[in-house]
Amino acid sequence: MCGIVGYIGTKEAYPILIKGLKRLEYRGYDSAGVALINDNGQLSVYKTKGKVSDLETFVTRKDISGNIGIAHTRWATHGEPCSVNAHPHYSSSERLALIHNGIIENYALLKEKLQAKGFTFRSNTDTEVLVQLIEYIQVNHRTSLLTAVQLALREVIGAYAIAVIDREDPDVIIAARKSSPLVVGIGEGEFFLASDATPIVEYTDRVIYLDDGEIAVIRRGGALRVVNLNNVECPHEVQRVAMDLGQLEKGGYPHFMLKEIFDQPACITDCMRGRINVEGTNVVLSAVIDYKERLLAANRFIIVACGTSWHAALIGKHLIETFCRIPVEVEYASEFRYCNPVIGSNDVVIAISQSGETADTLAAVELAKTRGAFIYGICNVIGSSIPRATHTGSYIHVGPEIGVASTKAFTGQVTVLTMLALTLAREKHTIDKDQYLSIVGELQKIPDKMREVLQLNDRIAQLAKIFTYAHNFIYLGRGYSYPVALEGALKLKEISYIHAEGYPAAEMKHGPIALVDTEMPVVVIATQNGLYEKVMSNIQEIKARKGKVIALVTRGDTAISRIADTCLELPEMPECLEPLIATLPLQLLAYHIAVCKGMDVDQPRNLAKSVTVE
Ligand code: AGP
Repeated sequence: MCGIVGYIGTKEAYPILIKGLKRLEYRGYDSAGVALINDNGQLSVYKTKGKVSDLETFVTRKDISGNIGIAHTRWATHGEPCSVNAHPHYSSSERLALIHNGIIENYALLKEKLQAKGFTFRSNTDTEVLVQLIEYIQVNHRTSLLTAVQLALREVIGAYAIAVIDREDPDVIIAARKSSPLVVGIGEGEFFLASDATPIVEYTDRVIYLDDGEIAVIRRGGALRVVNLNNVECPHEVQRVAMDLGQLEKGGYPHFMLKEIFDQPACITDCMRGRINVEGTNVVLSAVIDYKERLLAANRFIIVACGTSWHAALIGKHLIETFCRIPVEVEYASEFRYCNPVIGSNDVVIAISQSGETADTLAAVELAKTRGAFIYGICNVIGSSIPRATHTGSYIHVGPEIGVASTKAFTGQVTVLTMLALTLAREKHTIDKDQYLSIVGELQKIPDKMREVLQLNDRIAQLAKIFTYAHNFIYLGRGYSYPVALEGALKLKEISYIHAEGYPAAEMKHGPIALVDTEMPVVVIATQNGLYEKVMSNIQEIKARKGKVIALVTRGDTAISRIADTCLELPEMPECLEPLIATLPLQLLAYHIAVCKGMDVDQPRNLAKSVTVE
């Protein structure tokens, strides 16, 4: 939520900041702003409601010179999206400008205290309270900006990544982090600051990831200092980041989401690279091998995640229970942290998160750690907070995911969970050799089978036109396909704003079937696997009520094509791997319906890619 960028050096800051904001726009896009100090020491703040492109229009013919600046793209928490509430926020005298990602939970109390001293506020944000407080301390305690930030942050309860500049000291940016990510890029005589490495990688590959409670003092021409709130120096490690810049561009596709759907065969190849041997007979997840005693000694696994990652977790439960015979519970991370979970040192908690920054998932990890559980992370963004908080884990290696609706991360997560289950099952001797070899062999074929499925794209684009005006959708599946149904429904909701629900197919008759009429499209995953006959009966029940059935079937199926309105054929696949291909047509269906409706596919309303607030 909210993207932060900063620059200090010898170049013009504005173009770097705007390009950075565009890279981070997936984090929030209801308003955007920039603060710059020019060579005459003037601090200017320009901000507007809307996207980064609106900000560019807004600054036309304004003074955007200066080689120090900070910029922000917002996902509103406190105060509606409008230019007044947009960041950066000035301090009272307009000496300071500050940007913030997170929530100051005790802002109302701090605001009251400042109001009692005569302060007035322009915006409804928690952020303005912080910048006013910093200036108040700076002036009244006659302190440096750094000390004022340290003292102010000691009074703050909540989450923050902030950057602040001071027109009285135009050679420094002070940045601080608690529970919201912040990365500092180190160039030649210049520094960059951002919520993640994507705005930084084209200038430098040397970064440091700030830890909670740390403050970076980024001074032009000086060495980077990192201190804590008590001004104690914090040792920091410079890390190298590698990122293919092409992954940050649309590469000829009209939307990132479509590109990322089509990237999946290559992404899954990357995900499996070095983890399956060339003969295709063995899967090794090194983290599983390194910690196999700990994992095999577990009473049970608990998987915590949110949204799409939670759907991947449901598939992970099936895989681990089936192949490893270890009981698995799947919890919404947001609920887990508040339900006083019964959890102890014999439990293993698997945290799944594309961004590695989801506040609820991170908090669940911290809670489980305090109870002595062993924590395994499955994340995409390298160096993000969750992998750094876990004992071990596996990256999914699918590259940056920019579209807000998660696609390739889901299949990457499911691929890693499959490899985890297979590695552990072999170590535990709970899978027979032939079955193991057969599944490993089939897993390797997934990228090719995905390519086959993606050929349905044109057909799905046509189909989408029929359903553009639907108000509701139902998605049904059983076993491994039930989470796929949930994921299909979530994709449609997120980007087309059509109400959609996913159900286990057999649950239909316990209530949801009352919704079925001639207007109700029902997407059914009805491939020839374990419960095929039963799913066919469920389709009959829907057709008897005149619902419109779109069925995903196994290639060559004739029985379902006789009763369903539309069939989309998938290649044959063992049931446990089917989510890896069955999800793709549902991603495409959601995408094309949203495009037909003229929706902003990559940046749907009200959403943000990385949910770093509760
Ligand atoms: C997916 O399309 C969503 N945008 C959302 O549900 C997402 O999966 C969820 O917020 C969890 O994010 P994470 O994987 O980065 O933790």
